[in-house]
Amino acid sequence: MAFFKQTVKDLPLIRGDHTRVLVRVDYNVPLKDGKVSDDLRIRASLPTLEYLLEHGCSLVLISHLGRPDGERKLEYSLEPVAKYLSKLLKKDVTFVDDIVGDLAYQTVKKSKNGDIIMLQNLRFDPGEEENDAKFAKGIARVARADYFVQDGFAVVHRAHASTDAITNEIPGVAGFLLEREYTTISDAMEAPKRPFVAVLGGAKVSDKIQVVERFVKLADTVLIGGAMANTFLKYKGASVGKSKVEDDQQATLDGIYAAAKAKAGDRVDDYVVTPVDVAVAQEFSDKAPRELRKIGEVKDDDIALDIGDETIEKFCKVLEGAGTVIWNGPLGMAEFPNFAHGSARVALTLATHPKVTSIVGGGDTADFVLKWDVKKGGSFTHVSTGGGAGLDLMAGKKLPGVECLLDADTRRRKEIKLN
Ligand code: 3PG
Repeated sequence: MAFFKQTVKDLPLIRGDHTRVLVRVDYNVPLKDGKVSDDLRIRASLPTLEYLLEHGCSLVLISHLGRPDGERKLEYSLEPVAKYLSKLLKKDVTFVDDIVGDLAYQTVKKSKNGDIIMLQNLRFDPGEEENDAKFAKGIARVARADYFVQDGFAVVHRAHASTDAITNEIPGVAGFLLEREYTTISDAMEAPKRPFVAVLGGAKVSDKIQVVERFVKLADTVLIGGAMANTFLKYKGASVGKSKVEDDQQATLDGIYAAAKAKAGDRVDDYVVTPVDVAVAQEFSDKAPRELRKIGEVKDDDIALDIGDETIEKFCKVLEGAGTVIWNGPLGMAEFPNFAHGSARVALTLATHPKVTSIVGGGDTADFVLKWDVKKGGSFTHVSTGGGAGLDLMAGKKLPGVECLLDADTRRRKEIKLN
């Protein structure tokens, strides 16, 4: 699918001119002891930054980090991220501990071609999450930018000042990461190579209702694992012991099964596939041994922490024959090695079947495959940087941070090419 918005490629960037670009990235990355502990989102932003730098632009980078609730909480400072980015780019990145004040304004004003400035965490100001026009004007005044580039795919499901209101101040286009994420996920949903298989895990059905509903419409098989599977199993009448369950999801599951039955009739259990066995422990601990229980034999004090071995084989067989797979949510407690078997085998199956288009998304799932994969995600067609944004896109929702960008204009693209 051709992307429906303009991108950095549409910008008439002329070397030698001083073009200043405001780039919204999503550097909401985990920090450990004040250092970046997972750099997927930072590495994924490099192609856009490098392209703009190669075209002689100077950059003002903006992002949020965590949820400081509109207050200046220095544990959420972007300073460590600026240092990390500087190492990756092998170039100075000037960090300014200010967003819309005079310090930021003066620092940007003095910048020259090729300079990179990163402003402080946008969420230190309540105006960011309020999508406040005044705050957006403040960012625009500081950035003095010719263009705004949205490349923070993971945050475009939020209508915030830096994803929405800012585009009323500066013409906005998409960066390469946003374009790639959007088109890869939309293409897989709308025109998948069949069979199209969804693998859904993670803790809660309630987080993924609309995604599950959409997959039930579009996919050929939906495999359910993770703690979410307990809610499905209990709904189907199986005992799940002390496992995590959402008891208030009855109506949701009624809806999901009504849609699934309408599509698959009495083959519904081959269509929405739940575990035939689970791996359990009696305590929630990384030391607990892996014990297997068939569904129907789970004891009162068991806690299901992974899909069982028979289920793993069953899921992998489906995946081997798939055309497109979208995997969102770990299939068990993947931080505990004894209960990471399901996620690891799914990762291995996808990695060793390169003909299968494999899209892996959701924060925990991406984390898991990146730690697991020696090729740092290269074993899969696409590892998404998005959590909620990816889910909203898969659910078929419009993303406010994309909608507000300039529409693609094919006529103008041709003119730029001819020049
Ligand atoms: C994410 O990590 O999903 C994005 O950075 C958005 O963060 P938020 O859920 O705090 O808005």
